[in-house]
Amino acid sequence: MNATRHGYARSVAGQILVTGGTGYIGSHTVVALLEDGHDVVIVDDLSNSSERAVDAITSITGRRPVFVRADVCDAERLDAVFAAGPVDAVLHFAARKSVAESVRDPDGYERVNVGGLRTLVDTMQRHDVHRLVFSSSCTVYGEPDHVPVDEDAPLRAVNPYGETKLAGERLLGDVAAGGGWSVVLLRYFNPIGAHPSGAIGEDPHGIPDNLVPYVMQVAAGRLAHLSVYGGDYPTRDGTCIRDYLHVVDLAEGHLAALDALDRLGPGCRAFNLGTGVGTTVLEVVAAAERAVGHPIPHRVVGRRPGDAAAVWADPARAEAELGWRARRDIDTMCADHWRWQSSHPEGFTG
Ligand code: NAD
Ligand code: WQD
Repeated sequence: MNATRHGYARSVAGQILVTGGTGYIGSHTVVALLEDGHDVVIVDDLSNSSERAVDAITSITGRRPVFVRADVCDAERLDAVFAAGPVDAVLHFAARKSVAESVRDPDGYERVNVGGLRTLVDTMQRHDVHRLVFSSSCTVYGEPDHVPVDEDAPLRAVNPYGETKLAGERLLGDVAAGGGWSVVLLRYFNPIGAHPSGAIGEDPHGIPDNLVPYVMQVAAGRLAHLSVYGGDYPTRDGTCIRDYLHVVDLAEGHLAALDALDRLGPGCRAFNLGTGVGTTVLEVVAAAERAVGHPIPHRVVGRRPGDAAAVWADPARAEAELGWRARRDIDTMCADHWRWQSSHPEGFTG
């Protein structure tokens, strides 16, 4: 085993298939993989991303990943990718991820997020590839009974998107119970920020649902002001608390997970990837104002239905078993997010 640039022992060598690798978290993870010496093949249908991400990844790393434009629900196209392989392990990011959209189109979310995973698993089975890291989410905890939330907390879906993540976790638990598979479920908390180069970042289509992309578009003058959803929660300043996590820390968590697939052996294991630090909405706005250097117009409005007052991670299991912990603070997250946003005001399409 070799020590790698990020300090994780290398036990998987060769080509890593990254589904959704031109998306926000996937593209940052592809950078980390390439910098770590892995060969990467990306499968993405570009439904929520741009092929320009591949050029940006290449400019950061000096190495070009193989890119295949394909839908993960398309078994024939997936088969061809594995046949061209060899593929050592799969990082499965490809999914639809908007809670609001999932309420409008639950069947579409089921088709891509659960059906796509099933197609991928069947294809891996046919090609004798049994190592998988799955993008899960803190959404599987719903509104937790206590915080910080650890991996043994009860799981419950509170929207159709959450149902697809729970169904994905259960499907993979069943697959691993059949023997021979090493699966890691990574439950991300709230990823924000961007690569420090400013060359890749989150590129939401339309008006963002999520707090930090919205704040940054207000800062850039594309949106007039931020609505802070609820100022009467039982928290230190009345606004909701979340566990914001730098996307580069998250990318490094995937390298640690990849290593763990072999080190921990067969089975299906879940890990929280969060900082363990809760930040309120108003604290995020203040950090963003420090990053951009001017006030960001905002006003407190009514609560958003379905929001939990406070959610943050207990990341102890990831530190103990993966040797991973988040290192970047909220000021770094906002500064890096702003560097991307201010240099790409229209995202990759601008
Ligand atoms: P993203 O939308 O930026 O990336 C997802 C990528 O998958 C996109 O490039 C999209 O084009 C691609 N894709 C979607 N459907 C596809 C299909 N049928 N076939 C092939 N490619 C397809 O989202 P992200 O924020 O990078 O999220 C990545 C993963 O992490 C998702 O599984 C998401 O559910 C999960 N996640 C995200 C967050 C978050 O806040 N961003 C939090 C927890 C979990
Ligand atoms: C954060 C806080 C809002 C927008 C979502 C998904 C979750 C996971 C992470 C994928 C909340 C407040 C927001 C705005 C605001 N994703 N807010 N004004 O809801 O914690 O989690 O992303 O798996 O499943 O549900 O993130 O960024 O939407 O909200 O005041 O315009 O910001 O009320 O307190 P959330 P978010």
